[in-house]
Amino acid sequence: MVEQSGSIPRSFIESLLARADVVQVINQRVPLKKAGTSYKACCPFHDEKTPSFNVSSTKQFYHCFGCGASGDALKFLMDYDGLSFVEAVESLAAQYGMPVPREQLSPAQQKSQQQKQQKQRDLYDVMHLAAKYYRMQLRDHPDSEQAKAYLRQRGLSPEIAKEFVIGFAPPGWDSLQTGLKADAKLKQQLIEVGMLVEKDANRSYDRFRNRIMFPIRDGRGRVIAFGGRVLTSEEQPKYLNSPETPIFHKSYTLYGLYEMRQSRQKFDHILVVEGYMDVVALAQYGIRNAVATLGTATTAEHLDILFRQVNEVVFCFDGDQAGLKAAWKALDLALPLMEKERSVKFLFLAEGEDPDSTVRKEGVAGFNQRVLNALSLSEFLLQGLQGKLSFPVNSIEGRQQLVALAEPYVQSAQGLYQFLLAEGVAHIVGLPTWRVEKQMNVRSGFAQSNSGYKNQKQQAGTEAQNAIKVVTIALKMVRLLLRRPHWAEFFSEEILKDLVNSVNRDYVVLGVFVKQLQTNQYDAQFALNAVAQNGYGEEIALVEQSELPNDEAFLLAEFEMAIAAILTQLDEQNLGRSGWGDAELKRLIALAKNR
Ligand code: UTP
Ligand code: MN
Repeated sequence: MVEQSGSIPRSFIESLLARADVVQVINQRVPLKKAGTSYKACCPFHDEKTPSFNVSSTKQFYHCFGCGASGDALKFLMDYDGLSFVEAVESLAAQYGMPVPREQLSPAQQKSQQQKQQKQRDLYDVMHLAAKYYRMQLRDHPDSEQAKAYLRQRGLSPEIAKEFVIGFAPPGWDSLQTGLKADAKLKQQLIEVGMLVEKDANRSYDRFRNRIMFPIRDGRGRVIAFGGRVLTSEEQPKYLNSPETPIFHKSYTLYGLYEMRQSRQKFDHILVVEGYMDVVALAQYGIRNAVATLGTATTAEHLDILFRQVNEVVFCFDGDQAGLKAAWKALDLALPLMEKERSVKFLFLAEGEDPDSTVRKEGVAGFNQRVLNALSLSEFLLQGLQGKLSFPVNSIEGRQQLVALAEPYVQSAQGLYQFLLAEGVAHIVGLPTWRVEKQMNVRSGFAQSNSGYKNQKQQAGTEAQNAIKVVTIALKMVRLLLRRPHWAEFFSEEILKDLVNSVNRDYVVLGVFVKQLQTNQYDAQFALNAVAQNGYGEEIALVEQSELPNDEAFLLAEFEMAIAAILTQLDEQNLGRSGWGDAELKRLIALAKNR
């Protein structure tokens, strides 16, 4: 879809929401039952047997008591139909017949925008006409016997062909224009949507001839393009696709997405396959959550669309060299997106097989078993990299190579996933994670220093001044607690939990240190050694490089500063429960002062 310039005025969105009825919008997609003053259904956003999804007509709001999903009509359209905010506004506005105004547009610009909108609407209509025409030709055209025979031979049922609106473009150079009785205007539009190829000023011919036609639909079910397949293996190219047009952009489009949503089933993952036939065949076997890219590699936009629907994307590739290459490309794109519950899996089929042939040979159970056995992103990555080594992975050279090969991948990952990947590499090569992270120059959240515990201690004298600068707030707190070990008792269980679960390594060190103090009679030296031996030697060395003066007022001021910063940062990073807030801060400071 072409996004329009000019932002949508806030006031319009408000009047749109005032006009629209959330109950009606949801009921069109998820049948609602009246229950008292509100409406109920089984939640479309999570799996459940008893309805906990509530829609309030008076509040114009929905809420699921099971999974917490909630929002207004626009939020629902975004999440359920997988639309962007602007698309949701447009979709809702269209339903209520309200034209969407744009800010910062002069009347002339607005007019041209409306004309453009009108034109686009017309182009969708033209595509709709074409799809209907091809569908009728498959049924009625004298030459369609071969096409029908081909579909039968491929095992496609008439029902599934109907659902995917599969049709037939007859042979001949002007079947479509004649069939649609196209006047000059319609011809021009057919050229614009790529259905006719313009030869010269007065002549144009059908792009698709003697092919099986697969309409490609957008998220709202509008036909925006076609893929056309030849009937015999002699002809070339096997598939012909619509070119990019004002209403069709390959890199944003996934074949089968609309049909998947229409199936009204809930999925926890989506399968990304390579071919139209794969999507259709899987659907025929009841596997409704497959989509295909359009003869191109997966794009970042595709992934964006997919992760708006589900948290898990399963890429299916042929088990050949090309499939492997495509998988690495997909991995590159997906790696930086791995956050929170998101995951990606890689499914490699047997050599020479695709999902279509696999499901026909092995059935649904066999296919699903392969999905279950698919490799996770990290498995594919770490196994794949090990396969590229020219030395055994347990040799010095092999370990060195693996760390070097893994480096760009770990660097491209984000947050906790980055740390976990580094940890995975570290595990394979038998090094501490911090050493691998340092090598790769990634900081999944710890103050970098130069070398291991003992070494660091020796260098401390000369580098102390520099090192003090890199002591983070969390390590400062550790240093304070060395002077005042009993202050460790102020750390509540909740704060400790946030600390040790943090993605920031220094917070973990602080958390572990406080725990050690609390469980070992506040013996600072004992706790320090325990933490150092737990793999945090480097941090402890950094802490030990300097001592704080034993001055009560100074220490209290330091404590106040440090605890405030730590609580704010925990909140900011939203690492645990947010909202430690001022109360907790005041409590901690008061406790320290009153001792
Ligand atoms: P495949 O060659 O794997 O086709 O191409 P397929 O879907 O298995 O087709 P069948 O089973 O032989 O009918 C995968 C996808 O690549 C694009 C199409 O989108 C196709 O579905 N493609 C392929 C083209 O665009 N042009 C071609 O000539 C071939
Ligand atoms: Mn195939």
